[in-house]
This record gives sequence, structure tokens and C-alpha cells, in this order.
Amino acid sequence: MKNFALIGAAGYIAPRHLKAIKNTGNNLSAAFDPFDSVGIMDSYFPDVDFFVEFERFDRHIEKLKRKGMPVDYVSVCSPNYLHDSHIRFGLRNNADVICEKPIVLNPWNIEALQEIEKETGKNIFSILQLRLHPSIIALREKVLNGPIDKVYDIDLTYLTSRGHWYYTSWKGDISKSGGIATNIGVHFFDMLTWIFGSVKNNIVHLHTHDRAAGYLELDKARVRWFLSIDGLTIPEEIRLQGKSTFRSIKIENEELEFSDGFTDLHTKSYEAILSGEGYRIGETEKSIEIVHNIRHSVPIGLQGDYHPLTILPKSKHPFA
Ligand SMILES: NC(=O)c1ccc[n+]([C@@H]2O[C@H](COP(=O)([O-])OP(=O)(O)OC[C@H]3O[C@@H](n4cnc5c(N)ncnc54)[C@H](O)[C@@H]3O)[C@@H](O)[C@H]2O)c1
Repeated sequence: MKNFALIGAAGYIAPRHLKAIKNTGNNLSAAFDPFDSVGIMDSYFPDVDFFVEFERFDRHIEKLKRKGMPVDYVSVCSPNYLHDSHIRFGLRNNADVICEKPIVLNPWNIEALQEIEKETGKNIFSILQLRLHPSIIALREKVLNGPIDKVYDIDLTYLTSRGHWYYTSWKGDISKSGGIATNIGVHFFDMLTWIFGSVKNNIVHLHTHDRAAGYLELDKARVRWFLSIDGLTIPEEIRLQGKSTFRSIKIENEELEFSDGFTDLHTKSYEAILSGEGYRIGETEKSIEIVHNIRHSVPIGLQGDYHPLTILPKSKHPFA
């Protein structure tokens, strides 16, 4: 049984990590979050030591080490811009680290962290959960077994409604979350490069507070993509079904079915990591490079091969 520490324990995604630690038969020794709404931990690890001050948490982790009960893994569920620092904390404490997406905001952060991996002999793992989704695995097999020189035409659409709170929180601050393409899109860019290869061209058509769209050319795909957190971009028939999320990947005009199967992917990720088959930080290079370049591109507007939803009327920032 391995001992875990969890950083960012009060947030939205933390329960998936609590569940994954529990389901894989491991123990949570310590947790930290400056916000103390963490009653959810009672459902998983009622005896865990919880801290709201980093200094006390740090001291406790050190004490556990001295008592011969060191933390083996640090799981990081904090805001994106803090991952780099929290990963370093884990490695310096001689623990392996499991970090949420996006592992870091900039490509050069990866190399710096890999150096600390080498110095400490500990590993950094990322949650790349789409790579564990059965439909995505099947698609990869199909492409691998398909004609070697085939280039697929793809339309990727991910619409997931978020309220005004998003813009008050760190998620609405591009310096903290990386913006829509980084925060909402990174899983998809990882999945696309995992299946269709390296980037040949990366064009941004649109990038606002609540949506981003562009064209990505990969070794084996031409992808028109559109991401949005504006609920009004979701097709009316989907909204009328009471749904606030719409995912679609059309490959050569054929829809890839992957609406379900997302709930247990964190547990699957943990299982892979614990059995030595987890995705190391180096695996995130391509997707982090893509989202970094999108963030720093000047959108060209309605030119070239853009996703059909790019023409939808834009919305005003709720606090503008
Ligand atoms: N894999 C996925 O499908 C998925 C889904 C959602 C979010 N995420 C990622 O998980 C991470 C957390 O996202 P979330 O949606 O849970 O956000 P959230 O805002 O709900 O939770 C973040 C938590 O971090 C805490 N926090 C803030 N400052 C901190 C600090 N200095 N030290 C430690 N904790 C601090 C906050 O109090 C909060 O409880 C992000 O990196 C996000 O991109 C992944």
C-alpha cells in the first residue's frame, strides 16, 4: 500500500483522485488546500491530516518522512499555474508526482522539471485520460492499421457551458489557467497528436474569453477545431435534452461515438501509473507546445479552413 498526499483537496476534480487512491487500495496520509471545504474526504479517508497552511503541510510531510512513513506519491489538483511549483514540492520530498492537466503552462517548464526528475530519481506522471477511453483507443488502432499515407479530415467540437463564476475564478484568468484552449482543450490536443502525429501547422482563427477555434495540421490529419464555454453555442436540440456539454469528433464526416465512458478514467490512470505504465511528463510535450502556441498566436479571423461554428455571433465578457 502506497501513501499519498493531495494538493488542492477542496476543488472540483479532487474527489476523482480521492476515489482513485481508494479504489487502487492505497492510503491518503495528508492533504492541503487553502480553502477548507473538504468534508468530501470523510467519504474516502476520514483519518487524513488536512492543512490549510502550506508551511504546516510541508512540516508534516517532513515529519512523516522522519517517522519512517514517507509519502510515496503527491497528487496535484491545484490551479494550472501552480502545478510547476507543487510538482517540485513533491519531487523534493522524494515522492513521485501525479499531476492534473495541463501539467504546466509552457513547454520550457517541462525540461526544467525533467532535470529535477533526474536529480531526485523520482517521476512525474500526467493525467492524460482520453488516451484511456475505449473509443479513442479503438480509433488509434484503426488509424495505426489504416493506410500509412492517409491524411484524415477531422472536425472537433467541444462545447461545455460555464457560468459567470468561471470569470471570477482562476480559470477565467489567462495567466493562471492558460485560457480556453489550454484549460478546456489540452486533452483533445493530446489525444489528436497521440493518434495522428506531430504538428505541421497550427493556425488560430478565433480566441476570446469564452471560445477558441483554429486549424491544426498533423502528420496524418487536418483538424478544424472549435472549443467553447458559452452555453449558447450548444445546439438547441442538445440543450433541450437538459445537457450542458456537447462533444463531437467527425472523422471524414463520420461521427466518433464517445459521449460516455469518462467517469472512471482517473482510476484507470492511477492503475496504469501504479503498475509502471503511466504517462510520464515527456508525453505531454506536443500538447503543451500546441496550447502555448495557440495562446501566443494572433487570431486571423474568418480566413482559410475554419470550423463552421467559428461564424457564430460572439458574446460579451460578463464583467466587461
Ligand atoms: N482531468 C480532468 O478532466 C480535469 C477536469 C477538471 C479540472 N482538471 C484540472 O484539475 C486542476 C484543478 O481543477 P478544478 O476544476 O478542481 O479547480 P478548482 O478551482 O475547483 O480547484 C482547485 C483547488 O485548488 C485550491 N488551491 C488554490 N490555491 C492553492 C494553492 N496555493 N495551493 C493548493 N491548493 C490551492 C483551491 O482552493 C481549490 O480547492 C486543474 O489543473 C484543472 O485543469 C482536470
